[in-house]
Amino acid sequence: MSWWWEGAVGVAKKKLDENEAPPKYQSAALIIGITGIVGNSLAEILPLSDTPGGPWKVYGVARRPRPDWNADHPIEYIQCDISDPEQTINKLSNLNDVTHLFYVTWANKETEKENSEINGKMFKNVLDVVIPNCGKLQHVSLQTGRKHYLGPYELYGKVAGHDPPFHEELPRLDAPNFYYILEDILFEGVKLKEGLTWSVHRPGVIFGFSPYSMMNILGTLCVYATICKHEGVPFKFPGTKEAWENYSDSSDADLIAEQHIWAAVEPYAKNEAFNISNGDVFKWKHFWKVLSEQFEVDNGGFDESAGKTSMVETMKDKAAVWDEIVREKGLVPTKLEDVGVWWFVDTILGNECQLDTMNKSKEHGFFGFRNSKSSLISWIDKMRGYKIVP
Ligand SMILES: NC(=O)c1ccc[n+]([C@@H]2O[C@H](COP(=O)([O-])OP(=O)(O)OC[C@H]3O[C@@H](n4cnc5c(N)ncnc54)[C@H](OP(=O)(O)O)[C@@H]3O)[C@@H](O)[C@H]2O)c1
Repeated sequence: MSWWWEGAVGVAKKKLDENEAPPKYQSAALIIGITGIVGNSLAEILPLSDTPGGPWKVYGVARRPRPDWNADHPIEYIQCDISDPEQTINKLSNLNDVTHLFYVTWANKETEKENSEINGKMFKNVLDVVIPNCGKLQHVSLQTGRKHYLGPYELYGKVAGHDPPFHEELPRLDAPNFYYILEDILFEGVKLKEGLTWSVHRPGVIFGFSPYSMMNILGTLCVYATICKHEGVPFKFPGTKEAWENYSDSSDADLIAEQHIWAAVEPYAKNEAFNISNGDVFKWKHFWKVLSEQFEVDNGGFDESAGKTSMVETMKDKAAVWDEIVREKGLVPTKLEDVGVWWFVDTILGNECQLDTMNKSKEHGFFGFRNSKSSLISWIDKMRGYKIVP
C-alpha cells in the first residue's frame, strides 16, 4: 500500500467521523467491461473497505451472463451490449447515483477504420446515457494503451512509431488509431457537464486474470504450456530472437486498477493521460524458464534455426485437446477460442517490446509498481485457484 493510498484512506475516514451518520456509499462506480482483464481487478479492488474514495457501490457491465469466477465480487452485474444504443439506454439510464465511470472495454475488428467506428460508437453510447442521467458524475476514466505511440497492429512496421521510451507528451502519430477517437469523444463529452474530469490510462501488455479477455498473454501462454505438457512436447518460444533476448515489460492488472482509482479521486491527477507499467524490465528467455517450471514442461526455448513460428497455425486444431484436458483435470469448462488468444501472442512475441516511462505518473504522485516476476506467478496462482488451468 502506498503513502498515497494510506493518506487517502485517512481522509475518507475523517470525513466519515465528521458526518456522524455517514451515507452507506461515498462513491458509485460504473465499470464497463467488468469481466475483462482490468475490469475484473477493478471489481475486486473497488469494493474493499480501505479503497480510496470509498465506500464504493459498484455496477459492472458486460454482454455475457456473469461467470462464476467474477461472482465473488460484491457488485451489481448488468448484462448489456453497449454497441446497441437502445439496450444501453434501457439498461443504464436508471443508474442515477453513478459518480465515476471506468471504461475498460473495446471491440476488435479487422481494420483500424472499423475499430475506430465501432469503439467510438460504443463509448459514445455510454457517455450519451451516463452524462445526462447521472447528476453526481464527477470523473470518467478511460483505458487505452501503448499503441497510442506505436500505431495500430495492422500498421506495425508500416508507419514509423515514436522512438521509445514513450512519454505522454509525444504528439499523436499521423495514422488511424481508435485510441485517438476515444480520447476525442472523451474530451467532447466532459465539456457537457461542468466540473466533470477525465483521465486516460495507457498500459503495455497486461498480466492479469480473465478467461473472457480479448488480449490475455499470460492466460494464453499458460494454456499453451498445459497443452505442451499434455502432449509430451517441448514448450517452444514462438516469437523472434529480439523478443526472446531483449528487454520487455508488462503492466499488472491490479496496478492499472490502482492507477484508475488514484486518478479518479486525486485532484492533482485530473485531466491528464498517464502511462502505466510495472516499473521494471524482464527478458522472455528468463520468464520462459519460470513458465516451464510452473507447468512442469520441458523448456523448448527459442529455436534459432526454426525462427518465429505462428501460434495461430500451431494451435488451430487443438480445441478437442483442450476439451480433453479440461475434462481430465476437472477444470472450469472454457473454450479454447476464449482462453487461447493466439494472434495476440504472435503479435507481442513477434515484435520487440518498446518501453514507456512512468516519470509523469510518479511526478503526479502515483508511486505504484510491481515486480513483474512476482506478478506473473501470482496471476498463475489465481488461474489455478479458479481452476482455469491445472
Ligand atoms: N489486454 C491487454 O494486454 C491490453 C494492453 C494494452 C492496452 N489494452 C487496452 O485496454 C482497453 C481495454 O481492454 P482490456 O484488454 O482491458 O479488455 P478485455 O480484457 O478484452 O475485456 C473486455 C470486457 O468488455 C466486455 N465487453 C466487450 N464488448 C462489450 C460490449 N459491446 N458491451 C458490453 N461489454 C462488452 C467483455 O465482456 P463480454 O465479452 O462478456 O461482453 C469484457 O468484460 C482496450 O482499449 C485495449 O486495447 C489492453
